[in-house]
Amino acid sequence: MARSLEQLRRDAKRCQDCPLWANATQTVFGAGDPHARVMLVGEQPGDEEDRKGLPFVGPAGRLLDRALEAAGVRRDHIYITNAVKHFKWQPAGGRAGKRRLHKTPAQREIDACHQWLEREVAAVRPQVIVCLGAIAARAVISKDFKVSTMRGRFVQSTLAPHVFATFHPSALLRLKEETEREAAFQRLVKDLRLINKALS
Ligand code: URA
Repeated sequence: MARSLEQLRRDAKRCQDCPLWANATQTVFGAGDPHARVMLVGEQPGDEEDRKGLPFVGPAGRLLDRALEAAGVRRDHIYITNAVKHFKWQPAGGRAGKRRLHKTPAQREIDACHQWLEREVAAVRPQVIVCLGAIAARAVISKDFKVSTMRGRFVQSTLAPHVFATFHPSALLRLKEETEREAAFQRLVKDLRLINKALS
């Protein structure tokens, strides 16, 4: 299993199935335990992930680490990947011009990348898949999935026995009010505790 994941990682390095590869530093493939019972799926690598070649190692990843710890889930026991494996960005305007701002991937880019996600799921064969945010939920669960009303509940899926969606950690980072951020963090932790429930 681990070997086929390694093969996939090598193959994905050369992927040019959508235009996103052209402006990205590298393909950011999934990482973590190749035999994990839990797979987390995010949206796409951010600026730091693009440079380091690893998923969830920037600000959203650090918030995710805190939430996983609070939920009693060890990151070294899980496999983390993204629905889209190249960083889509645009230059910030004005004096911040050198910064690369995240741009939401288009449906055709999510579709083009889906083959890698499917193959990762087939190689890892997780018991639980957690979708972080709307893009992941649409890629894994259904195109009309609404995180605001449908998060934190198991849904039927052919990909794994237990599948649910929750907030994307970046959505929490965008909240201005400290109290709002803390409340959303607690909801994220509560959702992530479903992982232990599914595995028990
Ligand atoms: N956001 C994501 O969805 N994935 C990452 O890897 C980093 C930030």
